[in-house]
Amino acid sequence: MNFKNDFADGLYEALNGQLDKSRLVLMVEKPKFEYMGDLAFPCFELAKLFRKSPHSIAIEIADKIQSPVFEKIEAVSGYVNVFLDKKKVSSEVIKHVLSLKENYGAINLGNDQVITIDFSSPNIAKPFSMGHLRSTVIGNALALIAEKCSYRPVRINHLGDWGTQFGKLIVAYKKWGDEGKVIQHPIKELLVLYVKFHEEAEKDICLDDEARGWFKKLEDGDKEAHSLWEWFREESLKEFSKIYELMGINFDSYHGEAFYNDKMERVVELLKEMNLLEESEGAQVVPLEELPPCLIKKRDGTTLYATRDLAAAIYRQETYHFVKSLYVVGNEQTLHFKQLFAVLDKMGCQWQEGMTHVPFGMMLKDGKKMSTRKGKVVLLEEVLKDAIALALKDIKQKNPNLVSKEEVARQVGTGAVIFHDLKNYRLNDIEFSLEDMLRFEGETGPYVQYTHARTSSLLRKGQFKETMELSSSFDIEAWPIITSLMAFPEVIKRAMEEYDPSQIAKYVIELSRAFNKYYGSVRILDDEDDKQARLSIVYAVKIVLKEGLRLLGIGAPEEM
Ligand code: ARG
Repeated sequence: MNFKNDFADGLYEALNGQLDKSRLVLMVEKPKFEYMGDLAFPCFELAKLFRKSPHSIAIEIADKIQSPVFEKIEAVSGYVNVFLDKKKVSSEVIKHVLSLKENYGAINLGNDQVITIDFSSPNIAKPFSMGHLRSTVIGNALALIAEKCSYRPVRINHLGDWGTQFGKLIVAYKKWGDEGKVIQHPIKELLVLYVKFHEEAEKDICLDDEARGWFKKLEDGDKEAHSLWEWFREESLKEFSKIYELMGINFDSYHGEAFYNDKMERVVELLKEMNLLEESEGAQVVPLEELPPCLIKKRDGTTLYATRDLAAAIYRQETYHFVKSLYVVGNEQTLHFKQLFAVLDKMGCQWQEGMTHVPFGMMLKDGKKMSTRKGKVVLLEEVLKDAIALALKDIKQKNPNLVSKEEVARQVGTGAVIFHDLKNYRLNDIEFSLEDMLRFEGETGPYVQYTHARTSSLLRKGQFKETMELSSSFDIEAWPIITSLMAFPEVIKRAMEEYDPSQIAKYVIELSRAFNKYYGSVRILDDEDDKQARLSIVYAVKIVLKEGLRLLGIGAPEEM
């Protein structure tokens, strides 16, 4: 269902195989103006090769190419212009989408091989920040897109459940903590303690040393330290799970940093054997050519974030044999991942070539970064709950008789938050705005969901039945919808190759707009003769909108 490829096939034959097909596909353009046709092939580059004028080459090619879906093909000033037979193409596209349903757009890039995706990965005992939201929604979408492209995604939540902050937290809890309060509101209370630690540590420098001491105890397996840590972890995970449940997100692994505690020594030994470790001011580092050295062990013998990531990478390769491995982590950790990949490269791990850091920009509030330390942070669970409550209010007003109001409100509320993020290219910073997220007009999740619900309602009202014979009398007004439907597989491919879900978000907006324009100009249900053809377009749009939203991790209610 790709007429560009058909055209390229024709070109390949016409040129007697003198140019690669893949190159020809890339050369096919979309003409600037509609009167020039639907596809165009410029012959200027070929002039040198064939020692002929572009125009005579164009004439020769145009003479040789034929296709049942090409209405006309002509040579104009060095271009071969193709006019598609819009009725035939429409009918083929609709038939194709309706026969494949939600499988439409699937492509085999992954050959059923594993891609590990490290995403979300919040830090225990700290609030789930908007930065972690970004990682969560981008990572989840990438997993769904990868699956659509025949990869086997392994979703890994690399919890930040180890590190010096636990030393600080233990000190703070022992000094100022209250067990009952922690049980009631774990994250809130642990954050209060964490913030208090930093305030007090500014006045009393001994606190930092104490915290270091407790972290060392934790690493050495001290009983009291360990059971406090375990408790903080459990309570925090319970709270994070509520967020994942609201958003309908699952993980295959919750192995966090602590999981690698007993797997690091082997890595350090390996580095030693390979002569890659050097001592620097008492610490152990791997020197790197074009990057700052990668710190493996501190002076006091404790390990670091990078040490755990090294062990994790090796563990993942040994366990899952991934061909690709993504890390959906903020922009600010770019250096860390460069160092990680460089160290693995030095260790001779060829598979590190399949590893990619997928960075993203910041979520800003009033143009400023949100930070946990000073307690200035928007709590994600509250944001989601606010969004769901707003959606519920809206539904109660607009559609008081809707049966599953609560579930639809959940889908619309979370969908709004997710879409607000994913419609932006991931590296751009985004401004946090609940009002923007929930607008039903413009580029929002609810706008696309609303369009989907409209298609459902039309199909119900028109009593559309798939079994009826598909007519081929398609309105010319539907052409923008048809071209948009045709583009879906390519959009998915690009989203996968560029690790960029915003391609799909922008796509569903565009398809919704095309559909709503059609809806505004054609009376879909009024004419009995055309009804079946029109409803089949409506159905194809519904299938693709729903699948597009699903790939973003967003539900598509039938009614709202
Ligand atoms: N917990 C880290 C943070 O919040 C992110 C971890 C990302 N994953 C990784 N393998 N380093 O900054």
